Amino acid sequence: MPVRAHCENPDRRTLADLIREYRPGYSLEQRFYKDPEIYKAEIKSIFLKHWMLAGHVSQIPEAGDFFLFEFDVESVIVVRTKEGAVKAHLNVCRHRGSRICLEKEGRSKLLTCPYHAWSYDLNGKLMTARQMGTDFKKADNGLHPVHVELVGGLIFVSLAEKPLSLAGMKEDLADVFETFGFDNMKLAAQKSFPIAANWKLAAENYQECYHCAPSHQEYAKVHAMALSKEAFAAHREKYLAALAGKVRTQESPYYFDQAKAGEEGYQYARNPLLSGMESGSLGGKGIAPLLGTIAEFDGGASEFMVGPVSFFLIYNDHMVGYRFTPTSHETCCCDVFWFVRGDADEGIDYDLETLTWLWDITTQSDEEIIVNNQQGVNSHFYTSGRLSEMESFEQHFLNWYLSSMKDSISNTSKGQ
Ligand code: FES
Ligand code: FE
Repeated sequence: MPVRAHCENPDRRTLADLIREYRPGYSLEQRFYKDPEIYKAEIKSIFLKHWMLAGHVSQIPEAGDFFLFEFDVESVIVVRTKEGAVKAHLNVCRHRGSRICLEKEGRSKLLTCPYHAWSYDLNGKLMTARQMGTDFKKADNGLHPVHVELVGGLIFVSLAEKPLSLAGMKEDLADVFETFGFDNMKLAAQKSFPIAANWKLAAENYQECYHCAPSHQEYAKVHAMALSKEAFAAHREKYLAALAGKVRTQESPYYFDQAKAGEEGYQYARNPLLSGMESGSLGGKGIAPLLGTIAEFDGGASEFMVGPVSFFLIYNDHMVGYRFTPTSHETCCCDVFWFVRGDADEGIDYDLETLTWLWDITTQSDEEIIVNNQQGVNSHFYTSGRLSEMESFEQHFLNWYLSSMKDSISNTSKGQ
C-alpha cells in the first residue's frame, strides 16, 4: 500500500499497520473511510469477489429485456435471453471498450455498441463486426460473462472468476423461500438514495439498531428491535415461544466472519415487531396480500442477508431489500426494493405510497445520519470510538472487513 501524502501530519502507516492496530470493540480509523488506495483494495477484495443483489426477474419478463447493475466503475447488463434464461454480461465492448447499453433499462433483440456498431446476441456472443480481417475470430470476442444465481426471483451476480458457493444457503433456507413464496414475488418499487459517504458507513449503519430509537421514530413505533438489548431479548423470547411451527424460527447465523469456508456469508433470523403490529407500515397494520404460504400475521418479520451488501426484511405481506454499493471512495448508493406477492395488483391489493412509506422515510433519515457521520469522521479530531452492546453485528462486519482486507494484502504480495 503506497504511503498516503499528508503534509500537516504525515501518516506513513501501511494498510497492514492499520489492520494490526485496530482495537476490537471500536470503530475504524479515519483512513478506512477516506483513503482512495484502501478503497481500491476494497473493490478488488470485496466487490469483485462477493455476490450482490442485482435485481429481480420481474424487471425482465420478456426476451431482450435488460437492466443495468452498476457500482464503482463497473456496469453489468442483466438480460433475459430468447431461451428465457437470465444472463449477465459486462457492459464493456470487446472492440475498444465502449459502454454498450447506455440506458438503465430497456428491450433489445441485439446488444449493439453505439461506437462502431459491433453487435452481440443476448447470450453475449459477437454476431457482427465489420472489416476485421480474415484472422479475426468472432467466437473469441464475446462479452465478458458475469456469474448469475437466482434465489427465487432475486437475481444475484458475482464478478469473481470463481464465485463463492451459494449452494449451502439455498439448501439451508429452502423452507424459508417456500414459506415466503420467493418464486412468486414481484418488484413493486425501487428507489435509489445516493449518499455522500463511504459505503462502509452506510453498511455499518444497517448493522446496528443503536440509532433506531433516536433516529427512526416511525420504525420504532413498529419494530421491537429499537428497544434496549434486554427488553428486545425478553420480547423476542416470548414471541418465538408463541410462534411455534408457523414460520421458521431457527436461525442461520453464517454472516460476515461466521461464513463457512468457500461459501458466501448469509443470515436468517425471525424477530418480533411490537405487540399488536402486523407489518412495516404507518400504524403497523398489514398493507398487502400475505406472501407464499403464510396464513396470518403473527407479529414478526424475518431478516435475511446474502453476502456483505444485500439485506432483506421479510414482513408477512411484503419484503424490503437493501443494497449498499460504492460509487467512489467517498460516495455510495443505497438501493431500496419493495417486493409483493406476484399476483398482487397495485391500486387494488396494495397502495404503492402506503407500501413504501416506512422504508422511504426511514432511509431518508438514514441518509442524513450517515452523511453526518462521514462529516464528523472527516474531522482532524475524529478518533475511533467505543461500540455499544447494541452494535455487535457491526463488530462482526468490521471483523470480516478487516480480515478480507488482510487477505487482499497477502494476495497482492503473492502477485495475484
Ligand atoms: Fe464497441 Fe468499437 S468500441 S464497436
Ligand atoms: Fe437506520
